[in-house]
Amino acid sequence: MNKILAGGMTTLFAAMALSSSALASDVEVLHWWTAGGEAAALNVLKEDLKSKDIGWQDMPVAGGGGEAASTTLKARVAAGNPPAAAQLLGMAVREWAAEGALGDLSEVAKKDNWDAVLPGSVKQFAINDGKWVAAPVEIHRPNWLWINAKVFKDNGLTPPKTWEEFNSVAQKLKDKGITPLAHGGQPWQDATVFDDVVLGLGGADFYRKAIHELDPEALGSDTMTKVFDQMRVIRGFVDDNFSGRDWNLATAMLIKGEAGMQLMGDWAKGEIVRAKVVPGEDILCVPAPDTEGSFLWIADFFAGYDVSDEKRPAQLQLASSIMSKDFQEAFSLVKGSIPARTDIGPDKFDACGKRSMKDIAEADKNNTLVGSLAHGTAQTSSVQRAIFDVVTQHFNSDMPSEVAVAALQNAVEAAK
Ligand code: GAL
Repeated sequence: MNKILAGGMTTLFAAMALSSSALASDVEVLHWWTAGGEAAALNVLKEDLKSKDIGWQDMPVAGGGGEAASTTLKARVAAGNPPAAAQLLGMAVREWAAEGALGDLSEVAKKDNWDAVLPGSVKQFAINDGKWVAAPVEIHRPNWLWINAKVFKDNGLTPPKTWEEFNSVAQKLKDKGITPLAHGGQPWQDATVFDDVVLGLGGADFYRKAIHELDPEALGSDTMTKVFDQMRVIRGFVDDNFSGRDWNLATAMLIKGEAGMQLMGDWAKGEIVRAKVVPGEDILCVPAPDTEGSFLWIADFFAGYDVSDEKRPAQLQLASSIMSKDFQEAFSLVKGSIPARTDIGPDKFDACGKRSMKDIAEADKNNTLVGSLAHGTAQTSSVQRAIFDVVTQHFNSDMPSEVAVAALQNAVEAAK
């Protein structure tokens, strides 16, 4: 047996042993929320369930963006031993539903009237074939630029609004020996930056054409060449040790002032809040360059898997708790997100949360609300992976932009 297979089997058996000791009133949840701010947010859910006499069986699979979690989940389902619930991004909800692997949450969704309190963008993933298959926990915005206010003040800089301004402030920081951009070289993090650049340089309509519709003309356009040009410039603004760094360690560099900026979704705010630093004051949040007026969105869902009847009540309770008004607010305050429910006001949120709520409403009205590729809200997993590969290869080599554009077109064609 080869090593990878053997490793996978060991994980699988360990997971099976764990789940067979579960009580019927336990709910086993597979997720990738292992960073400090994420774990703290998850605790809000664990406590809520505890108060309802439901035990939490933790199945964490570390790795931002959820790629490793997805591999473990596939193995569990293939072995006929799915967890009661798993954290999924939108397109993954669709893919699992198409496989017929998800349980039906409609009973609780109808009772709690989810239909009336969720936006259409979220419902298009949570409902499949007329059935509710997943409960959204929150909404995150990946197109944020986080700025260390002290670093900027000390160096007489103002937050950049455009990529041109970004390049200019980043160069000034670099000249002073400060790492301009805290970044972790992992494919999903590279893709998070790529998303921002495509949206910034192309605008929401271009993003939709290229990334959602995979329009060959948009993918092969001059704008896309410029996107890769900008990615190359950004590559010059990260430190030498960026490769493989976890996103939360990059956020720690930003908080400590070891770097001036980070392009990251607002789960970074979970780390900021936990470090007792004030978002909007000590760490500023501005839309990623040139993306003001547009909103890239993602939601984390918990989907229920098809489990035995005795595990169903705990699974349904989990879904009901996730969608309760109190939970949605309490969770997002810790996680850095905004509630998925539209009937929760901004009062308790900080400046960045308030801005997110306002911006998403406006973007929805103006048709500039777009699902993020990097975070599973735009493409099937195979197309997503194909684009990640090109973006990461380009970022880590001297590949000219024209070559990257051609590679992007080919990879997308092959993966479609
Ligand atoms: C995203 C997820 C976020 C966040 C991030 C880093 O895919 O939706 O909630 O935790 O990964 O792990």
